[in-house]
Amino acid sequence: MSETITVGLGARSYDIHVGPGLLGHAGALLRNLTHGPTPVVSDAHVAGLHLDRTLNALRNAGIDARPIVLEPGEGIKSFRGLEQLCGDLLASGVDRGGLIVALGGGVIGDLTGFAAGILKRGIAFAQIPTTLLAQVDSSVGGKTAINTRQGKNLVGLFHQPRIVIADTEVLATLPRRELLAGYAEIAKYGALGDRDFFEWLEGHGAAALSGDGAAMVHAVAHSCRMKADIVARDERESGERALLNLGHTFGHALEAATGFSDRLLHGEGVAIGMALAFQLSVALELCAGQDADRFVRHLRAVGLPAAIADIPGPRPAVDLLLEHMGHDKKVKDGRIHFVLLRGLGRAFSTSEVPLGAVRDVLSS
Ligand code: NAD
Ligand code: GLY
Repeated sequence: MSETITVGLGARSYDIHVGPGLLGHAGALLRNLTHGPTPVVSDAHVAGLHLDRTLNALRNAGIDARPIVLEPGEGIKSFRGLEQLCGDLLASGVDRGGLIVALGGGVIGDLTGFAAGILKRGIAFAQIPTTLLAQVDSSVGGKTAINTRQGKNLVGLFHQPRIVIADTEVLATLPRRELLAGYAEIAKYGALGDRDFFEWLEGHGAAALSGDGAAMVHAVAHSCRMKADIVARDERESGERALLNLGHTFGHALEAATGFSDRLLHGEGVAIGMALAFQLSVALELCAGQDADRFVRHLRAVGLPAAIADIPGPRPAVDLLLEHMGHDKKVKDGRIHFVLLRGLGRAFSTSEVPLGAVRDVLSS
């Protein structure tokens, strides 16, 4: 029941393979893309669970796989982590015509993709995403980056992978909270551009999250197909790709105001951010209240937060949230950029939002 989706980018086109047990086929899928030493970059959590199986699959196909294991957590997506990884990659002996494999969540994918993009002026890389968020979002589309003192993902480049291998069975070891955080990005695709998919999620999303393998393959593959189509039309985010930021203007501000801590995972921030984007759209009389209520009902039904009050601990001050929105990458010419909705499946971008309405939504 595997599915293959192509990201159509001319000579840089690549396939996303989605299905159960694909890790076991990784050798066959990568064999023709590499030669010589092939580093496999992972973090200590993922390495303990899935690295041996990956190395065996690659070595059985004749690939000279060389593991590199980094510390888990967002902290490694930094100049320090980049320096460490570049050193390890150079020591591995990978050459310019070789391949670097990222095995892990969005942190490992973003850092490894960036290192691959700058090492020896660019080496090909493969994504083997192991979180739901990475399978439906970060492994697809070629955005790579590290964080700096000034903010998240501010230093990076576009470097498309040669292939993405999303084995849905590896999600079985993911903590429930991380799984749900990734699901927020799946719900995002329905909300931004596909009402039928959203309706399918209402019927099958909970089952996908509770171990229905076929439902999970469909949810991941459909999400990847939607992202692949958008990236193919707007790789560098000069227009339509910005719709993928639905919920992110509010979400990033909430993450920043809670110190990028365990209080709020990225996907949880996106879930609350999408609920606020619906609320703002209703307040501006762009969207029917029924659609907003229906979206929030679905988030709550699967166990995701949908309001600022759902964040544990003290409520972030409205002025602090507005200040963080003002510093976001999505600010252009001093105007905050929002993705709003004309209904379920009908998102659009705008910078024409009265600040008073934003303030009201953040205060409600
Ligand atoms: P992550 O990579 O930190 O993974 C979350 C946790 O799950 C980590 O502790 C990891 O070790 C663990 N883990 C990973 N796979 C596992 C598995 N199968 N079983 C058990 N544990 C597992 O976080 P993430 O949520 O995957 O990614 C977040 C990062 O992605 C952020 O840095 C964000 O900026 C980035 N991101 C990038 C893009 C993009 O387009 N490039 C898009 C969205 C997010
Ligand atoms: N995660 C948003 C994008 O890839 O554009």
